[in-house]
Parts: sequence; C-alpha cells; structure tokens
Amino acid sequence: MNKPVDLSHLAARAEEDSNTSDNPHFATVLDARLSRRGLLRGSVGTAATALFGSVALAGCGGGDDDTPAPTTPDAGALSKLGFTAVPKSLEDKVTLAAGYTATVVYALGDPLTATTAAYKNDGTDTDYGNRAGDHHDGMEWFSLGSDGSASTTASDRGLIAMNHEATTDETLSSFFLHADGGTKTLPRPATEVDKETAIHGVSVVEMKKTGSTWAYVQNSAFNRRVTALSEVDIGGPAKGHALLKTKYSIDGTRTRGTLNNCGTGKTPWGSFLTGEENWFGYFTRPAGDDLARGNDKSVVALKRYGRAEGAASRHGWESAGTADIYARWINAKTGTSADGTDDYRNEMNGMGYIVEMDPYKPTSRMVKRTGLGRFAHESAAFSLPKAGEKLAVYMGDDARNEYIYKFVSDTAWSAADANPTDRLATGAKYLDSGKLYVAKFAADGTGQWIELNKAAIPSTYTAYAFADEADIRVNCRLAADAVGATKMDRPEWCATHPTSGEIYFTLTNNSNRRVAPTTGSATQLQPDSANPRAYTDMKGTTAQQGNPNGHILRVKEAAGSAAATTFTWDIYLFGAQADADTGLVNLSSLTADQDFSSPDGLVFSKATGICWIQTDDGAYTDVTNCMMLAGIPGTVGDGAKKTLPHSSALSVDTFIGKAPTADTLKRFLVGPKDCEITGLAETPDGKTMFINIQHPGEGTKMADVADPTKYTSQWPSNAGYGAGKRPRSATIVITKNDGGRIGS
Ligand code: FEO
Ligand code: CA
Ligand code: CA
Ligand code: CA
Repeated sequence: MNKPVDLSHLAARAEEDSNTSDNPHFATVLDARLSRRGLLRGSVGTAATALFGSVALAGCGGGDDDTPAPTTPDAGALSKLGFTAVPKSLEDKVTLAAGYTATVVYALGDPLTATTAAYKNDGTDTDYGNRAGDHHDGMEWFSLGSDGSASTTASDRGLIAMNHEATTDETLSSFFLHADGGTKTLPRPATEVDKETAIHGVSVVEMKKTGSTWAYVQNSAFNRRVTALSEVDIGGPAKGHALLKTKYSIDGTRTRGTLNNCGTGKTPWGSFLTGEENWFGYFTRPAGDDLARGNDKSVVALKRYGRAEGAASRHGWESAGTADIYARWINAKTGTSADGTDDYRNEMNGMGYIVEMDPYKPTSRMVKRTGLGRFAHESAAFSLPKAGEKLAVYMGDDARNEYIYKFVSDTAWSAADANPTDRLATGAKYLDSGKLYVAKFAADGTGQWIELNKAAIPSTYTAYAFADEADIRVNCRLAADAVGATKMDRPEWCATHPTSGEIYFTLTNNSNRRVAPTTGSATQLQPDSANPRAYTDMKGTTAQQGNPNGHILRVKEAAGSAAATTFTWDIYLFGAQADADTGLVNLSSLTADQDFSSPDGLVFSKATGICWIQTDDGAYTDVTNCMMLAGIPGTVGDGAKKTLPHSSALSVDTFIGKAPTADTLKRFLVGPKDCEITGLAETPDGKTMFINIQHPGEGTKMADVADPTKYTSQWPSNAGYGAGKRPRSATIVITKNDGGRIGS
C-alpha cells in the first residue's frame, strides 16, 4: 500500500499546513552575512570520553543472568558498528540483525493494575484508563534501584514513560477498539468516545528483568495513565493569562488532557517531557464562529494553528453529549462573557506544549511549560549540561514549512539539581523563564537564532498584534513568521550528540517543495540550502513530489555555547533509495544496506554514541516496511559544499556531511506491515533497548474489522503476543544474545 508522503496515516491525521506567511526563505538564506569560516574556527569539543565512561561503567544490574560475557567492548563510544545490516523487508514481522533478540513486552490494552481484566482484543474491552494506550510513540527510561527509589544507573529495573499519540481510525471511528468497528457518522456514542479519549495521552509502566527475561509489572504502584481528559497544570509565562481562561479554568491555570503526544525528552533533573503534536485536529470550530468573535485577532491565530471556521474534528468527540467533557472539543465563542470564562473559545490555547511529568510520583500533576512555545511539538533535546551555563532545549514544529526553535533558560545549570527531590519545582526553575528563539539558515552554512519577543516584531508586521510576551509564546508561529524564520521540510525529532553537543534534526519530508512552484500556490516553496531537494520520487506519482525522502540536518552552536545566537550547519544524511540519482537525490550515496526514507525518531545512545534513526515513511513502502538504522556520525563541516543544479533558473548550494561507510551506517531492524518505528529507551548500560512499533496494520479497512484475514497486519499476535488478531501498537525489548551492548 502506498501511503501519501507527509501523511503516514489517514487524512484526518494530516500535519496541518497553514503557513502561508510570506516571509522570505530562499532570498533570506542567500542574503546571509555571517562568515561560515569564522564560525567553523570554534573548537569541536572533544572532551568526550569522560561522559561515556561514567555512564556505561555504572550499570549495577544484570549480574544475575546466564548470558555469556560479551565479545565486544563494554564501555565507550563505538568507532564502528558491530552487526551485519539487515535487508529491506515487506514481511509482517520484526526483522532484526543476527545475534539479537526482540520480544514484545507492552501492547495496546495491556492492564496496568492488578484488578484490570486481561485484554481480549476483540473490541469488547473497557477500562482503558487502566490499560496501555494506543499508538505507542516517544518514550524515556527512568531507572529504579532495588529498593524502588529513583536511580541513574540501574539497568535491570525501571520505569518507561511513553506517549500514546493517536489511534488507527477511518471516518471518525477508532475501529479496532469497537467490536463492530464503531460509528462513522455523527453523533458518536459516548461509549465509543470515552474509550477513544482514554487511549490517548501518556502511560508510565514499570519494566523489570528477571533472569534474562524482561516483562512489564502489571501491579506496580508506579504504573499510571494520563489521558485526553486528565487535569494538567499550566506553567510558565502563559499561566493565568487571558488566552488560557476557559469555563473549566476561569483563572487560566489548568486545562484537561494532553493530546497527540509524539516525541519526548528527558530533563537533566530526571523528569519526562512529552510533545503535543497534531492536537488541533481533535477540535471542531463551527461555521459562523469568526463573526461570533467579531473577527478579532483570535481568528488569525486559530487559522495559523490549523482551525479555520467550519473545521470538523477528527473523531467527533464533541458530538457524544452535552456534558462538559464533550462540549470542550467545540472551540467556539458561544457565551456572552468578555473573557471566555463561560465557553471554550480559548480551549485550543491549552494544547500544543512541551509537558513535564515526574514519572516517579504517580499522583503528581503534569505541567505544560508554555515558555517553550506552542506548536506541533516533537521531541525536546537539551544541550549538554555544563555547570554555571544556561541550558538550551531544541525543538521542531512538525508541519510543512514550519520552523526549528530553541529555548534558553534564564537560570544557569547547577549540578546539584541532577537528582532533586522535587523534579517539577526544578522544572519550573529552568523551563518557566527563558528566551525563545527560532532558526534562520543561511546559504553559506551558517545560521542565526532569532529571539522571539515584542521588540523583534517588525513594525511592518500587521497580521497579528501581540499583546505581550506570553502572547508571543502561545502564538509563536506567528512571531516566527514576523521575523522571517526559515521554513523547513517538516521538523520531527531532534537529538543532541552525547560528546560533541551538536544537535541533529530529522526533516521527514515535504510535499510542498518545488523547483517550479505551481502558480498561485501560497504554500509551495523552492528548495533552499537547508532544504535543498525537490524531485518526484522513483514511482513518479505526483503525491510524492517535493522532498519525499527527507534529510537529517545538524547544527553546531558558536563556541559550543547553548546560549549562542549563531551556528554552523550541514546535512548529516539525505534519505533516498539506493538506486536514485546521486546528483540530485541520493546525495549521501546510500547503499542498499543503508537506504531509508522519511526519518522521524532520532535518539543518541548515551552508552555507545550510536545515532538511532527511525522511519515513518510513505514513499518507499512499496519496497520496504519502516525501519531503524544505526549511524556513527562525524561532526558539522566534515564533508563538503555541493551545488544542486535544479534548473537553468535555479541552483542551490548546500553542505553535505562526510558520506557514511559500511561501518558507520547500517539498517538494524525492519518493522511489520504498515507500522512506523518510533521511540527509544535504553538502560544506562546500553545492553537493553526498548522501541515502539506504532500502528501496524493501519491500512486495514474499517469494513473488514470482523475478518482477520483481511487485516494488513496481524502483528503482534503473529509473534505470539496476546489474544485476538487485531493489530496492536506495542513496545519490543531488544537484547544482544551475547549480553553485549546494542549495536556493538
Ligand atoms: Fe507524530 Fe511528526 O510525528
Ligand atoms: Ca505517528
Ligand atoms: Ca514523529
Ligand atoms: Ca512522522
């Protein structure tokens, strides 16, 4: 099945596409004045091995199993990959490098309390607030010592905090959750809607190794669910702001739920961060609402965030009844108050944040960190913490033509905060006050971080009048438009190299990139230096024009400083089919053991330094299911400048990292049918890795829900896991058969 590029899934989940701002892109980058050579003179920062040593040698678990001693080094960064690449695959199973074992440990519906019934997986299950949610996505590992206290080193017991992004749906209904596939017309019954709101959000689940076998702990007191309806606090500059006031929270300090949680992050103080991505699609905004609002500036903001009036919601949750938990999905001015405290006209301003959780405290509320900006968040990657220096948090906004951001804390890092008793108070200290910047890439391989504040908004920008600095954080897409940030090819995850501190960003694909934009298109962009490709993929379908295979860009801060306002950049890898033209498409010269399309998840191993690259693809899926690769990258500037001759009227200079070799980039795993590979949690010793298989079988037709022979995937039941044949998103645990580190 060929899925359209951009949408790994069905239309309702589409990354929205509302950036019609006319801030310059190509001209801007040509205009750059910064000296690439000058910035490159900064040191590369090779004070490396201390970090690897301290983490990798500290593992205190695993001494009680029977696995033989590993034949590869037990600590330190790897200089070459130690496994044999796996071929591309269309099989409905997890294909894994030889010498490794993968086992399913935690799937949609698995019970999280001792008294929750076993999952029948036939559409009759209930009590989803006490079960694993759907569409497992980003996740992070939090070690537990043998006494159940927080640990930074234990590798045989810990918590996984995990995003449950979405659900496999067609025409409103999450059909695998309902016995007959559910209701595909409005109104939708509350019994179905209540299941669907409960399978979104976040779960915390305890994982434990007994002998050499990993399993989740069903009755752990740490197990937890946060859903689309859980109470969540607002933190940071928008806390208590007029933009956050609703009927539910008349003082603007709380909201309900976290939604479409995609990428993750782990703070230097040991808490969990989750990014809210395509949340706007869950709200409806009825026709006539623009007029009801008096066509005020909120209409401009709503359009920029994907909700023009008349927009229908993805699941019709608003239709299940008049109760407040359904009415809140109607983002409309229906009341008479001046401040919105009698309706949900401001409800969407409560979504779109990086949200912090203390996974060790199951009753603590999550906090939305509004200072980090509101957009379609993916992961949140920290600069390498240095005592006495500010912390940076890097973030991408995943929609076509959106931006890359960085937050810099006002507070300098104190190593004493690495293991605090109150993690959320520590989070407030570093994340509630700081500066927000957006990236502007120049054609000479340099770039600037432009601060987003009222002073930075040019007087010529009249599209939206920012009330104050909090308004800029809540509506930072508009502020970024105003300052002329660079429109990117859908920024997904970012991750920080554990020794160089360089920041890697996946740019998954962009169907709106064109050498010759369609006349009159407000959204199609010409290629530029940081997003230099536009072509029609090898199947030649118009649905896969643009940059269908994506790339991975990396940034090196000036002088290695998290607070720098200038940087250099290059492109680590270009996704491509191995047989594609190396002049305009396969620019990284990928071989058949390395080729991939649409990078999305991106995580560096702190134990081995491996850059794990995960795909969420619709362009190469006639040849292979989605996959995970291992890379050992160099540094920004280790390759060369290249000019792409797109047409007689357009050539683009870009900077390409040193080409990978057979030792430094290999495919490690391929997933089952119709899945994406996402999320990665590793134990501190680097010997156990958890990854997620999201939405296997999502191409199944709702009409076929009663006929398992017509499911496009029966994973993980065909891998021996659980009842029923309905496909389920699930976590797998990977270990090396000789007990060594993953990838070594
Ligand atoms: Fe949920 Fe942008 O991937
Ligand atoms: Ca997804
Ligand atoms: Ca993603
Ligand atoms: Ca994706």
